[in-house]
Amino acid sequence: MEVIILPDPPQAARLAARIIEKELRAKPALVLGLATGRTMERVYACLAALHREQGLDFSRCATFNLDEYIGIPAEHPASYRSYMDRHLFRQVNLAAASTHLPDGMAPDLGAESRRYEAMIQEAGGIDLQLLGLGSDGHIGFNEPLSALLSRTREKALTPATRQQNAPMFGGDPARVPARAITMGVGTILDSRRCLLLATGAEKAAILAKAVEGPITAMVTASALQLHPKCQVVVDEAAAAGLQGIDYYRWIFNNEPEWADFR
Ligand code: GLP
Repeated sequence: MEVIILPDPPQAARLAARIIEKELRAKPALVLGLATGRTMERVYACLAALHREQGLDFSRCATFNLDEYIGIPAEHPASYRSYMDRHLFRQVNLAAASTHLPDGMAPDLGAESRRYEAMIQEAGGIDLQLLGLGSDGHIGFNEPLSALLSRTREKALTPATRQQNAPMFGGDPARVPARAITMGVGTILDSRRCLLLATGAEKAAILAKAVEGPITAMVTASALQLHPKCQVVVDEAAAAGLQGIDYYRWIFNNEPEWADFR
């Protein structure tokens, strides 16, 4: 795992977008795993600008989102499908048929979960998985005690998560669906590269647990410590609880891999 610390959320998001850009230019048929949440909005704005202004081409790219709420239709403004349409899919030249989210309205959610896993396999697996960090340490909707080998499945959301996501539902946590369908921690760990983005002081304590704490199902983001190629991009505020800041900065400022990004 590597931690890259940027001064503020716009610069952190821009770095995440540039990492995606580099992967996509190297492999135009990239299989890209996507995340939702407020943190990602800036990343998608950067990718849209790269498409508009520098011709970044998504025409051969396939995408798989981490998760979707159960029980709200795709057309609902707070569905993750609507979020993705708004922030990315309509802003770039992705083929509609190449964008995938789990179907939270599927009559048989077990079958839908298996279908989603199979589609990822058929696409050749995920090259780069973008991840946000929930206030309870979740990745996707893998809430505390999610098995670290879990696959795509239904998951009940914690009160903390429903509270965190309430702004998209008029501010009322009771209106946030109680369940979601999410890639499992094991599904995420199968990606060839993981990129976690977290910004803001409110993420500092949980980020420190995820990055420097023990690997535990209580903080599913901590499972990323097992991944052979995982980068964590944060702003100063989110990095505030980390112990190893000087070392992380040294790596970013000196390792040849990061020369293009400094
Ligand atoms: C939701 C998503 C997560 C995301 C999290 C972070 O819970 N299911 O995948 O990481 O939001 O949200 P935010 O960026 O708004 O803090």
